[in-house]
Amino acid sequence: MVLVSALITVYLATVAEAAVTVYGQIPFGQTATGAAAQPTRVVNAFNDTVLNPPPIPNPPLPTAFPLALQRDVASTPGLSTPHVGGGFFGFSIEMSVINQVLGKNSTHLYVPFLNLLSNLAERAGSVVIRLGGNTQEFATLVPELPDGRTFGKEDSGTTQTTRTPAVLYTVDMFYMMSNISAMLPVKWFLGIPFNDSTTWRLQIAENAQRILGDNLLGLQAGNEPDFYQQFGRRTEYSPQAYFTEIGQLIQTIDANPNIPVKNKLVGPSVATGPWTPEVVWETGFIDTYKDRLYALSVEHYPDNNCDAIFRPELGRNKDPQELFPGYLTHASAVDLVRPYLNSGNLAVAAQKPLIMFETNTASCGGFQGISDSYGAALWALDYGYQMAYGNFTHALLHVGGQNVFYNPFTAPPTNMSTFNQWTVGAIFYSTMILAETFGQSNTARIVDLNPNQGNPLTPAYGIYERDVLSKVALFNFVTDPSGNSDLKVAISIPNAGVPGSVRVKYLEAASVSQKFNITWAGQTFGNRFEVDGRLRGDVNVVEITCDRTANACVIPVKAPGFALVFMDSAAAASVGQASHTFATTAFTRLHNTVSVASQVLETSNGHNATNRKKYGSSSKGSVVGNDATGLTLSPVVAHGVAVLIAFAAAGVMLR
Ligand SMILES: *[C@@H]1O[C@H](CO)[C@@H](O)[C@H](O)[C@H]1NC(C)=O
Ligand SMILES: *[C@@H]1O[C@H](CO)[C@@H](O)[C@H](O)[C@H]1NC(C)=O
Ligand SMILES: *[C@@H]1O[C@H](CO)[C@@H](O)[C@H](O)[C@H]1NC(C)=O
Ligand SMILES: *[C@@H]1O[C@H](CO)[C@@H](O)[C@H](O)[C@H]1NC(C)=O
Ligand SMILES: *[C@@H]1O[C@H](CO)[C@@H](O)[C@H](O)[C@H]1NC(C)=O
Ligand SMILES: *[C@@H]1O[C@H](CO)[C@@H](O)[C@H](O)[C@H]1NC(C)=O
Ligand SMILES: *[C@@H]1O[C@H](CO)[C@@H](O)[C@H](O)[C@H]1NC(C)=O
Ligand SMILES: *[C@@H]1O[C@H](CO)[C@@H](O)[C@H](O)[C@H]1NC(C)=O
Repeated sequence: MVLVSALITVYLATVAEAAVTVYGQIPFGQTATGAAAQPTRVVNAFNDTVLNPPPIPNPPLPTAFPLALQRDVASTPGLSTPHVGGGFFGFSIEMSVINQVLGKNSTHLYVPFLNLLSNLAERAGSVVIRLGGNTQEFATLVPELPDGRTFGKEDSGTTQTTRTPAVLYTVDMFYMMSNISAMLPVKWFLGIPFNDSTTWRLQIAENAQRILGDNLLGLQAGNEPDFYQQFGRRTEYSPQAYFTEIGQLIQTIDANPNIPVKNKLVGPSVATGPWTPEVVWETGFIDTYKDRLYALSVEHYPDNNCDAIFRPELGRNKDPQELFPGYLTHASAVDLVRPYLNSGNLAVAAQKPLIMFETNTASCGGFQGISDSYGAALWALDYGYQMAYGNFTHALLHVGGQNVFYNPFTAPPTNMSTFNQWTVGAIFYSTMILAETFGQSNTARIVDLNPNQGNPLTPAYGIYERDVLSKVALFNFVTDPSGNSDLKVAISIPNAGVPGSVRVKYLEAASVSQKFNITWAGQTFGNRFEVDGRLRGDVNVVEITCDRTANACVIPVKAPGFALVFMDSAAAASVGQASHTFATTAFTRLHNTVSVASQVLETSNGHNATNRKKYGSSSKGSVVGNDATGLTLSPVVAHGVAVLIAFAAAGVMLR
């Protein structure tokens, strides 16, 4: 096995590289804490603002309340339509930061990013990612860039609110995407530039279809067209004008033999700023174009921080401390989704997915202290569940690079980049938890239960799979270290239907304002500049014995807290998903190396997570068989190395 030993050498070199650590150092751009602290320009993604949690409610929160659930869907009104697979949250990555997030080029992808995706894919079966955003409108494919780079920038000369440079990219971008999809079940969206509707620039569609094939889900046709007039992209623009341009785009695509698949468009992606989705629906958009559409889409952020970022001289900065409580209530999620309930029903009727194509805590980068807090993770969980309840199929959290506060994940400044130095934003945990909640059965349905007399600080959801109750999600938005606001939620099911016991996974932190030391079922990705994309620590699934006589499973939820309760013993699958994490951790701790596709291991050796963890601690040589890329893995290599081989075969360098 000459090949294998050569690769093991690479593997060892990689481990050595991994030994470089910046933990404890004062990172680039972060202000020092000592007296000698130099005021430096702070990179927003690593901003240290910590807000005060909102005051403890007065009168106090009712903390012990019943939650009566029905066992099956037939007795449960108001359930969402069943959700398609692929998780719920995906990511929307601004084109200008692709090389901060995905990798340098198609042979140099970032391992922490792949590891993070692997954690989602393992739970959800696949992950959806959109490369686009404001930058897509002026993005231009060029034959080559200096120094063999994949991405470059030039000034787009525009004065739009979200000032973004024109992105230049080479065909290698598509190979990056394709190489990622060869390793992990990642599906993609791209956007057709809409800055010029007389001379359509369709190279992105041509190359995406040629290189990505079925891994391309769709092509966005227009990004926030309701802002085109305001941002100076059109002199006058109306929903009717947008409708007409879509028709022209379709004609152009029809005439283009290099775009063989004609029905992958995604629209209208209104920001729900100047236009509501309804004004677009009223043009006949859905009926006229539904055969050409992959999905309906909207985009929305609950707030914006544009003045602070782009017009600080006006002194109109919003105060995050004042805004924080507005995120820490169920009313936020309900208010955000309400404008789309009609669209959700239209999408169900048209049998099209409805996608929140871009969202996050606030546009123009989010707010310091809010966007990367545990509070934001609770907010994103509630918002995600509420969107699913409102019949959205996916929501894509926007990723904006080093200059924003809201990233689910951020690479270190480039001169510090060895692979284990990333930073995970609290909302990444929310993406993982939603993936785990809805699972891979493609049958998950969800209902907003509004318990505790509709108290907005203690929302709850019921999740049904295969037509029976499978999970319950419980929230406590209050921060109260005294314990007086801890909840005791008594779940009951008719006819003394509670099981003997349930399993609970918690997302924990001491305060809503906390940014680090956040754990999901006891595990964490690590704090700032510590993340390599793998969960650390032992999985802690809490088993709670139910009182079958009293028909109650009493679930404690700390203030603050989030609990995912696994109800159905037949849903061992659900708990099994949890053990995927366990298994991954087990072998990563042992081998302290790069692991990408634990899913590769899983399919390669024909073992599921449950039996994998059994030998994960002792038998290093047990990986045999074919992985997803069709490789034969040697029986003599360790797990970590086997994964490395999958990488090497795909032509990817490990750093
Ligand atoms: C965080 O960001 C805010 C808003 O840009 C800035 O005023 C503040 O100085 C930054 N603080 C730290 C500690 O990085
Ligand atoms: C979601 O769609 C289902 C139909 O499949 C409908 O019964 C339900 O009311 C919709 N949900 C909301 C919140 O409108
Ligand atoms: C990708 O970048 C690496 C490191 O800069 C370089 O060695 C490699 O040749 C590049 N690959 C391509 C396909 O350009
Ligand atoms: C659209 O953007 C491209 C690339 O930046 C540019 O070359 C072209 O002139 C633009 N067209 C219009 C009408 O602004
Ligand atoms: C990865 O990218 C390179 C281009 O640099 C390409 O030659 C190769 O075929 C790609 N591999 C896969 C699996 O797509
Ligand atoms: C990284 O680059 C920045 C800006 O060029 C510089 O200030 C900083 O010292 C560098 N950090 C390291 C660890 O080299
Ligand atoms: C995380 O928790 C540990 C133990 O409670 C504490 O020592 C450490 O300072 C915390 N780290 C951060 C970044 O909050
Ligand atoms: C995993 O394998 C074990 C042992 O073969 C089996 O009992 C269990 O049902 C499997 N779990 C799943 C989720 O397939």
